[in-house]
Amino acid sequence: MELKINGQLRRLPEQASDPEMPLLWALRDGLDLTGTKYGCGIAACGACTVQVDGQATRACVTPLAAVQGRAITTIEGLGSPDRPHPLQTAWLAEQVPQCGYCQSGMLMAAAALLEKNRRPSDADIDAAITNLCRCGSYPRVRRAIKAAAEQLRAKK
Ligand code: FES
Ligand code: FES
Repeated sequence: MELKINGQLRRLPEQASDPEMPLLWALRDGLDLTGTKYGCGIAACGACTVQVDGQATRACVTPLAAVQGRAITTIEGLGSPDRPHPLQTAWLAEQVPQCGYCQSGMLMAAAALLEKNRRPSDADIDAAITNLCRCGSYPRVRRAIKAAAEQLRAKK
């Protein structure tokens, strides 16, 4: 089985090709893309959030069959060291991560929000980012999203 991940076609190893396998396992165990985290396994925490065709998607409950032929973006594809996504720059400036466990999911959900809304209010952010952070980074997440939104607006 092949998947479109971060702009490339990636072949999954045989043991990670069951159409019913959650995307999260295929990413982590089949392709070694371990930036996407396992938290709850029941779509409750958001640690496993990736984008599928630009939509924030919880990979722990998304079977491989549902993402065939669709564009998957993981945290590894969000930016690069020489071209970070504005969110990544803002995340550093605001010192958002604490333990860091929830953060790749937060960033992927935030990036999906900014694709649709370049001027998100607190209410927009709270509605779109339902990811859980046991370290309570929510106020910094909000500030960083707004800073990144400003950068993106300025680029237009
Ligand atoms: S691990 Fe997927 S939502 Fe928690
Ligand atoms: S930074 Fe620790 S869980 Fe969010």
